[in-house]
Amino acid sequence: MIELIKKKRDGHALSEEEIRTIIRGFVDESIPDYQIASWLMAVFFRGMDDVETAILTDAIMRSGDLIDLNDIPGIKVDKHSTGGVGDKTTLVLGPLVAAAGVYVPKMSGRGLGHTGGTLDKLESIPGFKTDMTTEAFIERVKAHHLAICSQNEKLVPADKKLYALRDVTATVDNISLIASSVMSKKLACGADAILIDLKVGDGAFVKTVEDADKLATIMINTAKQMNKKLIAVISGMEEPLGYNIGNALEVREAIETLQGHGPADLTELCLSLGSYMLMMAGKATSHEAGKETLREVIAQGQAFAKFVEMVQSQGGDTSYITNPEKLPTSSFSHVYEAKTSGYISHLSAMDIGLASVKLGAGRETKDSVLDLGAGILLKKKMGDWVEAGAPLAVLYANDTSLFAKAAHYLDEAFVISTTKPEPYPLIYKAIQ
Ligand code: URA
Repeated sequence: MIELIKKKRDGHALSEEEIRTIIRGFVDESIPDYQIASWLMAVFFRGMDDVETAILTDAIMRSGDLIDLNDIPGIKVDKHSTGGVGDKTTLVLGPLVAAAGVYVPKMSGRGLGHTGGTLDKLESIPGFKTDMTTEAFIERVKAHHLAICSQNEKLVPADKKLYALRDVTATVDNISLIASSVMSKKLACGADAILIDLKVGDGAFVKTVEDADKLATIMINTAKQMNKKLIAVISGMEEPLGYNIGNALEVREAIETLQGHGPADLTELCLSLGSYMLMMAGKATSHEAGKETLREVIAQGQAFAKFVEMVQSQGGDTSYITNPEKLPTSSFSHVYEAKTSGYISHLSAMDIGLASVKLGAGRETKDSVLDLGAGILLKKKMGDWVEAGAPLAVLYANDTSLFAKAAHYLDEAFVISTTKPEPYPLIYKAIQ
């Protein structure tokens, strides 16, 4: 392994056998975490070419079972976000698209770096289980059109382990590592079509539209080789999505969105992404028609009903969904106020994400225990006017000493000025 770390450190491409050896050794624990961490950092700095990335994706995908969904009729459509702050789209999109008649088999992850993870969010619902056998996963998708599962030693274990190690070694934001992580999971899950929400901007792992384009191309080519359809939507992550950041807080906002009174940005993004999913499933003839169908599904209450059905089928206590005030809350709150009057000219998703990690909503080490009630409720977003002394955000934590640490990031996150800023695009483009 020392030779392989050195080879990558010195900027050389690794062979197929070498990449497969690394992944095999990591999963069977013959290679220790510290050497994998060092190799990841070498990959981070030196990058991987397209051939290495394709081999890495395949090696990770084959580290566990490959799910066969052929028993389920029709086109199965999966969805994945490359990660953002306040990004609770899966919680909305899964039920929304499933309620419109599409089968959605979804394998999700935990929080990564400053971004949240769907599994952590769902675990704020008491009893909710994401760990299930492949058979149970297939049965649930068949019966309910939707199931959200986690990885285990049978399902893409290499990604589960790599993801956790990258999270705490500052090696997340590399295009080859992101592409192989996302695509290995999506391909192992067996869907026919995949929608990627490729986040770009301050709070995303990909900072420029140019890099997002490169990542989209790698993913589209990988999908083509496997005869899958893939649409990558490049969407903005300059400021957080919606107003709630933190696990239970995000479940609440997802519920509001499924009930038709969510924030405008989250609602619009979900309608747009959902419509592409309907189009790939052959259930909408145009993007506008798909969005209209989904608006109806929300208005008729079917999207929220599907969320309740999924929570029930995965062992969750649905009374927390029908009465979201029961969801976990931290013991203490703190109002963070504006220091001057003016427009919010910038609201850094990255700093808000880091502040929420400090409050206990994310992990600082692999063994960190999350405070599911912790997080941030934004009171203002970009372009809003605020008076000096008015609340910009409410912080939640179980330890009051964390507020000062989080406030340090909030001081950086909010920029107030006298001119109203131009809004950032919510969606840059869709590529297929
Ligand atoms: N989402 C993933 O599943 N993997 C990454 O590497 C980044 C976002």
